[in-house]
Parts: sequence; C-alpha cells; structure tokens
Amino acid sequence: MGGEEQWDDRETVLVTGATSGIGYELCRRFAANGHNLVVVARDARRLGEIGAEFEKSFGISSMGITVDLAVPGAPQQIFDDLQRRNIPVHILVNNAGFNEYGPFADTSLQRELEMIQLHIAAITSLTKLFLPAMLQRRHGGILNVGSTGSFAPVPLNAVYCATKAYILSFTEALAGELQGSGIKVTALCPGATATEFAARANMEETRIFKGPLMDAAAVAAAGYEALQENRGVVVPGIMNQATIASIRFAPRRLVARIGRWMLEQKPAH
Ligand SMILES: NC(=O)c1ccc[n+]([C@@H]2O[C@H](COP(=O)([O-])OP(=O)(O)OC[C@H]3O[C@@H](n4cnc5c(N)ncnc54)[C@H](OP(=O)(O)O)[C@@H]3O)[C@@H](O)[C@H]2O)c1
Repeated sequence: MGGEEQWDDRETVLVTGATSGIGYELCRRFAANGHNLVVVARDARRLGEIGAEFEKSFGISSMGITVDLAVPGAPQQIFDDLQRRNIPVHILVNNAGFNEYGPFADTSLQRELEMIQLHIAAITSLTKLFLPAMLQRRHGGILNVGSTGSFAPVPLNAVYCATKAYILSFTEALAGELQGSGIKVTALCPGATATEFAARANMEETRIFKGPLMDAAAVAAAGYEALQENRGVVVPGIMNQATIASIRFAPRRLVARIGRWMLEQKPAH
C-alpha cells in the first residue's frame, strides 16, 4: 500500500470490491491507463497484494481501505479517510456486490439486509459524498455495476434483482441530471461472469452458471470503454444484449418464468 507521501497528481479511481472478479479487472484497466487506485474491500491481505501488484506493473500509486460496506457509516469513513490524506477521487466505481440465492421464504434476512445496504445505501452514499468535488472540477466519472438482473424480476434472486434494478434506475437518472456537467455516468450490467460470485452464493450448479460465462476482463473492458464514451448503460456480450432486448418486449410474468428456469439447479444427467 502506497502512502499519501508517494501520491502523484494522476487521476485517482476508487474501486469497491477490488479484491476479485470484475472489480479486480477494472483496477487493472484503470491502472494500465495511468490512474492511481484506491481499492476497497474487506480482505486486507488481498487489498495489499493488489495494490503492490499494480504499483509494480504500472508505476501508479495505490491505497487500500479495508472496510465492510454493508455496515452503515462505512462510506463516510472512506470519505473522511481520503479527505484526511488529501487524496482526491476523480472516478468512483461502485462494484462491490454479492448474492443471497434461493426462495425468499428460505433465504437469510440478515444477508438480504446487508445486500440492500451494500447495493443501495452504500452506492447512494458514496455517490453523494464524492460527487460535489467532481462537480466543482467539472470533470469526473461514476461507474455503477448493475446486472442483467437489473432489467428483470427473477425468482430465486428476488432481493438481488430488486437491488440491481435500483442501481440501473439510479444511474440512468443521475446520467440525465449530469449531462453537460463534465461528469460521465455509466451503469455496467453484466450477465453471468466467471468470478468468485457464483461460488460465494452457492449458485454454481444453476443453469445460468452452467452455461457460457463471460470473462471478467472482457466485462471490465466493456465497462471501462463505455464510461470513456459516457454511455449511460452497457450490457457486455452479444448474448446478454439479445436477452435484454427480448425482455423489453416480453410480458413480465413470462420473463419471471424463464428467469426462474435459468436460476434453478441444472439436473446432474
Ligand atoms: N459474476 C457475475 O455473474 C455477475 C453478474 C452480474 C453482476 N455482477 C456484479 O458484479 C459485481 C462484482 O462481482 P464479481 O462477480 O466480481 O464477484 P466477486 O468475485 O465475488 O467479487 C466481489 C467483490 O466485492 C467485495 N465485497 C463483497 N461484499 C463486500 C462488502 N460487504 N464490503 C466491501 N466489499 C465487499 C469482495 O471483496 P471482499 O470479500 O474482500 O470484501 C470482492 O472484491 C457485483 O456487484 C455483482 O453483483 C456479477
């Protein structure tokens, strides 16, 4: 972890959920393009390794903040820490997320409330905290990671998809407000991607995760490029784009039935 004494005046990107999967690959993208990194997650050891790796590979400065974003007050803690160290955030990437899979009657309320805190409250708070300085500079970027589940109600993923719908709606509305402000705003909405996400949610045997998975680096590249182009929404991958296009014209109940089938465990034979 680099200290503020080594911090140079390159643009800094703050990435939540930087320790694995899409967040890790987004860090690589931004670092390769000359951005300093503030990496945020709960695993201090992995944060340290990532910071050191990207400092060495790309000659950037980095700083790790070990925090559980499902705890209220965590966004303010991050903001205060960076203010104290005089580290500005030019681009905010709200990527951290997880799933609690299963029928709503059986899933953990505790985990679902943490998910709502992480996917809704933390993203809203971090954006509220870091936006004013971006507006002052008339320059900045906000990349929020939604999901193809942002577009559809999916049984066995009821709370997850509802939180991801919030992210998409919030991001599109914000993009509308910030047009002409110099701040780019994008919602990155991936489909099934090969990361630690499915294993952590015990979803590896579902049809959706037994099917073709996108590569996290390709998803990150799509998000990075869409933000550069200030595209409000990006769905990476042609198959995911076709799925989203078909959802727009199908009855919601049919979408939910197909979604449920995708989320069921694939029979072993
Ligand atoms: N993989 C997919 O199929 C898929 C599809 C659509 C959308 N997405 C979305 O993509 C985003 C990234 O997921 P991923 O697939 O890359 O999953 P992942 O490999 O499991 O990575 C999740 C990241 O979020 C961090 N995180 C989780 N809970 C956190 C918390 N409470 N506080 C701080 N950090 C936390 C994890 O780090 P620590 O454990 O160290 O905290 C990790 O760095 C998520 O928003 C997810 O919903 C994924």
